[in-house]
Amino acid sequence: MVFGIGRKIKKSLKPQKSEQFEYTGDNIAVRKKNLSFMEEETFSSAWEKAVEGNRPAWGGRNKDVRWRAHTAVWAAKHGLTLEGDFVECGVFLGVLSLTICHSLKFDQIPRNFYLFDTFDGIPDDGGDLIKKQNEAYFDCFEIAEKNFLPFPNVKLIKGALPGTLPQAPIEKIAYLSVDLNHARYEYEVIMELWDRLARSAIILIDDYAFQNHEEQYEMWNEFAASKGCSILTMPTGSGVLLKP
Ligand SMILES: C[S@@+](CC[C@H](N)C(=O)[O-])C[C@H]1O[C@@H](n2cnc3c(N)ncnc32)[C@H](O)[C@@H]1O
Repeated sequence: MVFGIGRKIKKSLKPQKSEQFEYTGDNIAVRKKNLSFMEEETFSSAWEKAVEGNRPAWGGRNKDVRWRAHTAVWAAKHGLTLEGDFVECGVFLGVLSLTICHSLKFDQIPRNFYLFDTFDGIPDDGGDLIKKQNEAYFDCFEIAEKNFLPFPNVKLIKGALPGTLPQAPIEKIAYLSVDLNHARYEYEVIMELWDRLARSAIILIDDYAFQNHEEQYEMWNEFAASKGCSILTMPTGSGVLLKP
């Protein structure tokens, strides 16, 4: 597989005024939609806890990725109908995985959630892009550990992927989230984990359809096509892939 810089996507249509929308956030805006999921008690209190755990990274900014978190909780809930553990590759302080853990009361669920990250930014491959992205990251292992203390069955695995994958005794995977912001690392991870995914397990690909992430987009499309399937683009930019 070639990891070239992908084709740039045309500039989107001119956005309308935010007052016309019932919800704006995470670079999306919607009108005339039922947004009850955002108000639903279990989800909204889990989301609040995830926001609290991510304050050290977000500072005073309000990073409203609730729709992405909702998608993650939905995919993880689906995972509960399947055999296997949960896995996330690319965790940082865990906004997606914390929302899942609090929503599902994961400490009461007899399976493990393996969280893989350097907890210190994207490993260097000499690319300028990585240096730029890494300005957003810092050594966050202690904060991440603290965030997941209420969940003894969540295991944090620190180090560079894909080399750390053998450190977890993962036989079957019922939910997989991939968010490494790096096409080659994501490719190496999915190649290693694909056969262990349960049938119909969902793979959530966080940066799939983000502008300036076209290399990941093309890599994932090529990968999905090689398995005879395709990826759903969410308005958030996340991709949803179902293992056939
Ligand atoms: C966008 S953040 C993940 C955000 C996270 N999913 C959340 O819910 O907040 C990307 C993370 O990927 C990690 N990362 C990127 N490449 C990696 C690699 N090869 N091995 C381990 N971690 C990596 C970075 O350290 C960073 O924390």
